[in-house]
Parts: sequence; C-alpha cells; structure tokens
Amino acid sequence: MNTIHTSEGPIRIRVAFFDTKPYDRDYFDTHKNNYNVEIKYFPVKLSADTASLARGYDAVCAFVNDELDAPTADILVADGVKLVALRCAGYNNVDLKAVWGRLHVVRVPAYSPHAVAEHAVALLLTLNRKIHKAYIRTREGNFTLSGLVGFDLYGKTAGIVGTGQIGRIAAEIFRGFGMEVLASDPYPNEGWAAEKGVRYTTMEELFRQSDVISLHCPLTPENHHLINEARLGMIKKNAVIINTGRGALIDTKALIHALKTNSLGGAALDVYEEEDEYFFEDHSTSVIKDDVLARLLTFPNVLITGHQAFLTHEALTAIATTTLGNIQNYFESGDLTNEICYRCTQKTCSRKETGRCF
Ligand code: NAI
Repeated sequence: MNTIHTSEGPIRIRVAFFDTKPYDRDYFDTHKNNYNVEIKYFPVKLSADTASLARGYDAVCAFVNDELDAPTADILVADGVKLVALRCAGYNNVDLKAVWGRLHVVRVPAYSPHAVAEHAVALLLTLNRKIHKAYIRTREGNFTLSGLVGFDLYGKTAGIVGTGQIGRIAAEIFRGFGMEVLASDPYPNEGWAAEKGVRYTTMEELFRQSDVISLHCPLTPENHHLINEARLGMIKKNAVIINTGRGALIDTKALIHALKTNSLGGAALDVYEEEDEYFFEDHSTSVIKDDVLARLLTFPNVLITGHQAFLTHEALTAIATTTLGNIQNYFESGDLTNEICYRCTQKTCSRKETGRCF
C-alpha cells in the first residue's frame, strides 16, 4: 500500500508540476481541492538540469516537451519521486526502458479526442479556404478575392493514418463532408469501418489516392519520418497533409523540398519535429534561429499552430481531473490503471492478446 501516513494520519501528496502555463494552473487549481494533493508549480521544463527541483516531492507532473530520459530519471529516483504523471496522451518524450521498474509513469489516455480531431479539421478548412488570409485582408479593408480559391471537400478522398480515438473521429467528420475515407492502421477496426463507410487500405494506396492526408498515429521509433521523401513522391500533387500527431512523423526537410517543387498542395501542422525549442513560448521579439522552421513559415500554403489541438475547455478539464485522479489513485491504493507499459511497447505484455494493454 502506498498511502503516505504520518503519526497524525494521511498527508497530502506533494506534486512538482513542470512547464506550467497559465491555463494549466487555472484548471488544476479549479479541481485540486477535490483531491488529496498539494501542487508546487514550476515554469521550467523537466530535464536533467531541473529534475532536482522535485526533491522532496512524491510525484512529478510533466507535459509533452518535458524530457524524461535516463539522466532525468536517475535524479528523480535518487530524490525519492515515485510517480511521473504525464498530463498528456503521447509519451514519446519518455525513455520507457530507462524508467520501467524504477518510476511509474502514468498518462491521460483520452481527454478529448474530439478536441484534437476538430482542430485537424479546422486546420484543413482554414488552409484550404484561406480563412487566415481573408481575415487579415478584411481587417485592413481589402475585400478582394484573388488568391483565395480553395476546393470542395465533398467528393474528395481523405486518408487517415491511425484509426485510434482521434483518427476515428476525424474520419467520421470527413465522412460528414461527403468525403470518401481511406484508413491505415496495423490494428484495423473493421466493425467501425463498415459502420461508418470507411475503407482500410495499404499505406501506399492511401498516399496515392488521398486528397487530404491526416496523421493520427503515435510517434514511435517505427513511425519516425513516416512521411519521408519516398512517400511524398507518392502523394497527389495537390494533396494537403495535416499533422496533429507528432512533428517527427514528418521529415520536415523532405516536406520543404516537396513544397518548393510544387509537388504538394499544402501542409497544416500543429506539431513540428524540433518544436520543443520554440512551441509554447513567445519568441515574437527574437530571431528564429531554426532555419527549417523559419523556411516552413514562409510558404503561403503552410499553416502552423503551436501544438494547440488539445486546447479546449473540455480537454483541459479532463486532463486536470484524470491527472489528479491518477496521482491520488496510485498513492492511496496502488492503482496504476493509466500506467504506460514498457512491455506493451515491446509487444511482450501478457495483459492483452493484442500486445497492447492500454
Ligand atoms: P490511439 O492510441 O487511440 O490511436 C493511435 C492509433 O495509431 C492506433 O490505432 C495505432 O494502432 C495506430 N498506429 C500506430 N502506428 C501506426 C502506423 N505506422 N500507421 C498507421 N496507424 C498506426 O491514440 P490517439 O489518442 O488517437 O492519439 C494519436 C496521437 O495524437 C497521440 O499519440 C499523440 O501523439 C497525438 N496527440 C496530439 C495532440 C495535440 O494536441 N496535437 C493531443 C493528443 C494526442
């Protein structure tokens, strides 16, 4: 049993909260009194340089660009931290091999798949119908239309890479526009596909036939640069790629080459492979030294948002309550329902025949 007791009874679970932003604080402060926790908010990201701030805390709360690598884990373990609670779904920033058996790492497996799927569609509509350009024009009294031509989504083909919680919702929204939907997933959900009129196919056919390609798979070593030069070569000349998954699913240099040679219609990106240097911070008064990001920002047919797909009231509420629940459940009863299982990622987990227990 993991409950923290003193002679006066149970004490509050102490949580060191890294990479805090105002919206995190708002939502965690709103809900924390319903849990047996005490939170110290740190603005810095978690890394080996900052991990010692967690000394004396029972748990650490971390986000997508906090680094939970072996040196960071060593410090957290030595300082007595027992649990890392990720307030996100993705966990590509965690070296699970280094951490497994030393620290428990829990996550929020689903907070609002609708938030992310809807943002993917918002990116597509904005880029395709040039809403971002029209907004600026009309604000300046320019009501001209040249350069704002888009295409109907109705009758076009959308390709969904990854039909988990988010990808399935995105697929259903695209079906609502009257689009054909192709899907690719190593674990196809045939029942859902039949019900929703979605067709599973190979990755290659998906890339060759889709007018819109939306990425909804996790970043794993196998999925690194899933969109590379070879796959970009298969894509239709006017196709649009949407990425709300993780930046390194796309080889950005290959993407830039495709955009420069007009062999791609456009890209709408909520994530970028080197985003941890820039995203979530205000760099508007300094020089962007990342030439790849700077080049991407120059294309008229590229739209970038700064990893905001999750940012809805419903998602932030679910993130706060699930994370606080994950922390309390572990310390009060040893419940690790939302633990990230290293054996699953190695396909050696015995808990589910699918090789995945979460
Ligand atoms: P999920 O685990 O429910 O679904 C992921 C699906 O991708 C699974 O069905 C899996 O089998 C499939 N998959 C894995 N490798 C694949 C491949 N090579 N090709 C095709 N399919 C593949 O995950 P969920 O909740 O749908 O989230 C997907 C990803 O979205 C997360 O891993 C995370 O990286 C990202 N995300 C981004 C957010 C944002 O704010 N931009 C917020 C939340 C999640």
